[in-house]
Amino acid sequence: MSEDSIPLVGVLGSPISHSRSPALHAHWLKRYGIAGHYVPIEVSSDDLPAVLSAMPRMGFVGANVTIPHKEAVVALAHRVSDRADVIGAANTLVFGEGGLINADNTDGYGFTENLRQAIPDWNPSSAPCAVFGAGGASRAVIAALIDLGAPEVRLTNRTFARAEALEEQFGEPVVALPWQDTRHVLDGCGTVVNTTSLGMEGQPPFVLDLSDIVQNAVATDLVYTPLKTPFLEAAAAAGAQTVDGLGMLIHQAVPGFERWFGVRPDADDAAREAVLGA
Ligand code: ATR
Repeated sequence: MSEDSIPLVGVLGSPISHSRSPALHAHWLKRYGIAGHYVPIEVSSDDLPAVLSAMPRMGFVGANVTIPHKEAVVALAHRVSDRADVIGAANTLVFGEGGLINADNTDGYGFTENLRQAIPDWNPSSAPCAVFGAGGASRAVIAALIDLGAPEVRLTNRTFARAEALEEQFGEPVVALPWQDTRHVLDGCGTVVNTTSLGMEGQPPFVLDLSDIVQNAVATDLVYTPLKTPFLEAAAAAGAQTVDGLGMLIHQAVPGFERWFGVRPDADDAAREAVLGA
């Protein structure tokens, strides 16, 4: 890329038209007076390799990756961070010299920073943590909780075999427990996370019983459409502190923006408003 060209960044997914990321990055670009563009790019799985190899030659300095390509890009990247490798998925790509693709995963960072910002004394190392769901998002959350010293991660999933597979992969702190056995899952937990799609607009609601949640435990939902999900409402009714998932979307975007455009952006109320207005 020549020195005076305007950097481009894309978000690759399918479907992609509902992504909130373009509004967030457009807000930051404007706010920091940076000449650059962040664009949604609809890409099929078949076209992903060709699109990725063409992007650096078109002036793209990097990309975000979303459903359904987060796993596939790990195999297509030339360098994969340890985090992305453990999680088996990447959401942030930085293009280097000669079209070299560096892949990272910032979802765990976004998860952690969102909770730290909302509840400054949040400390997942002081009590067991509970995680509902065993998909890709769950792996990022589990890796983050283990990094932060969680003594135990109780993992429960509708399909028990997926929870067992993660118990096997992550080892000791992760314990797979049956779905529906919320009493046992929640017992003594200081952090409770929904990583399933339950409660998302267009999906079935989250209906498991959360009445045994520890008073003042920190409950957060990765679903942010709607902001107040059935999971968060049930957790709040049972006495938990709740943190919505919109902040995770904003915080996971910070490292990418910094690497592509050279400024570390603020994940503040203005960023939140920009996403909510999208
Ligand atoms: P992501 O990458 O966003 O985590 P995913 O890998 O498709 O997406 O995982 C979706 C999660 O939501 C899984 O834990 C899934 O449970 P299964 O492994 O049993 O499929 C969970 N989920 C989706 N729909 C569900 C439903 N109706 N009831 C219970 N769990 C559901």
